[in-house]
Amino acid sequence: MEFILYEQKGEYAIITVSREKALNALNSAVLEELDRTLDQVDLNTVRCLIVTGAGQKSFVAGADIGEMSGLTKSEGEAFGRKGNDVFRRLEQFPVPVIAAVNGFALGGGCELSMSCDIRICSDNAVFGQPEVGLGITPGFGGTQRLARLVGAGMAKQMIYTARNIKADEAYRIGLVNAVYPQEELLPAAEKMAAGIAKNAPIAVRNCKKAINEGLDVDMDEALILEEKLFGDCFETEDQKYGMAFFLDKNKEKVKEPFQNK
Ligand code: CAA
Repeated sequence: MEFILYEQKGEYAIITVSREKALNALNSAVLEELDRTLDQVDLNTVRCLIVTGAGQKSFVAGADIGEMSGLTKSEGEAFGRKGNDVFRRLEQFPVPVIAAVNGFALGGGCELSMSCDIRICSDNAVFGQPEVGLGITPGFGGTQRLARLVGAGMAKQMIYTARNIKADEAYRIGLVNAVYPQEELLPAAEKMAAGIAKNAPIAVRNCKKAINEGLDVDMDEALILEEKLFGDCFETEDQKYGMAFFLDKNKEKVKEPFQNK
């Protein structure tokens, strides 16, 4: 692949968008490679993903403005669908995805981060949806996910004004969970990924499904969904082991890794 790096480190893997000369902007080729990268994730061994950008300046500076500049209405719609399809796939990917936002996260970059389960960022990160300044709307889920994450009022302000916000403001409004000095960001993301990977994988996957799908339905349906996913964990090797470990009062015991069974 030309624009996506993929590195598996034990039970988690790092996806790096690597098109530094354009601040990692998303053209069709990058989106296609991202999709193909998800095809090759080994879900038998990978329990968490990290998404980041190459270099120290930019996570992803948006969809590629050069590529978009000459599109017709129907081509624009198709380009939106291409981004939406791959971001939705990431959002629904069976294992958790952490966005390690290492700089500019504008337009499609902010949208990519919002398709991830968890966002943490470096102190030089800048978030924003600048599309109306370019004569378009956000097109890779920004109008929907930003409003769900930070509330409609703040999302509308950011989108209508096209004003970028810095890391501390992104933290204040709940767009990111934590801010780190640049050099500490990836280690923090890796530590979080390893911590997630240590927990029972079937349970973690079911939590992701329950939260994501539960948010799309009313509370009664959501609780039924939770009951099913809760029930689904029972009789697994990991549930039996996890509970037996707790109930065993032997203080010398050492917890074994969960088996994903
Ligand atoms: N598309 C294409 N190329 C881009 C790009 C983008 N989104 N963002 C940056 N680049 C390119 C620049 O054209 C420049 O290329 P050249 O060296 O060939 O001139 C290179 O990356 C470096 O960028 P700058 O020289 O502009 O760097 P800077 O430090 O002065 O500014 C920046 C950085 C503020 C991020 C600025 O590059 C910028 O404003 N970029 C565009 C951000 C943007 O508007 N993103 C939203 C795109 S629309 C969208 O994403 C729609 C959607 O929802 C799907």
